[in-house]
Amino acid sequence: MLIQKEELTIRSLTPDENYMQLVIEVGDKAIGEMNCHNMGCKTAQISIEIHDPALRDKGYGTRFLSMLIEELFMNLGYERIILDVDLDNHRARHIYEKLGFKVTGIKEESNVADYELTKENYL
Ligand SMILES: CC(C)(COP(=O)(O)OP(=O)(O)OC[C@H]1O[C@@H](n2cnc3c(N)ncnc32)[C@H](O)[C@@H]1OP(=O)(O)O)[C@@H](O)C(=O)NCCC(=O)NCCS
Repeated sequence: MLIQKEELTIRSLTPDENYMQLVIEVGDKAIGEMNCHNMGCKTAQISIEIHDPALRDKGYGTRFLSMLIEELFMNLGYERIILDVDLDNHRARHIYEKLGFKVTGIKEESNVADYELTKENYL
């Protein structure tokens, strides 16, 4: 996978499309990573991390996630995207919810919220 939008690039480090390790770049600088697993049933599980805390809260997470979601739904045939996040990770939860993800379950014992976004909800 290679997706480019303005100065942002998502580049796959892995040849296997069922499990993609993705590097995210601003200009020519790698700032973090995303992962994408094919879970079957047209479902992908994703994650994201911007490595340098100084580069968080600048809008990159939202923009890179939007690019990945668009690619998964519009070009790679997925119909559902899932992820999990710590209950107290309020910044991450805010952007997932802003992008249309809905909570599907809360696991208090492991402090985790499960989210999903369907293509239907996205469009
Ligand atoms: C989570 C992460 C990917 C988000 O990317 P980012 O570039 O920092 O996020 P953005 O700048 O696009 O958006 C941040 C949003 O969160 C909001 N926000 C920041 N801190 C917040 C908080 N404590 N509570 C609620 N919202 C918060 C900001 O106001 C902004 O919202 P807005 O665009 O509606 O104003 C990034 O912060 C990161 O890598 N964090 C560490 C790893 C991690 O938590 N990964 C997710 C694990 S599932």
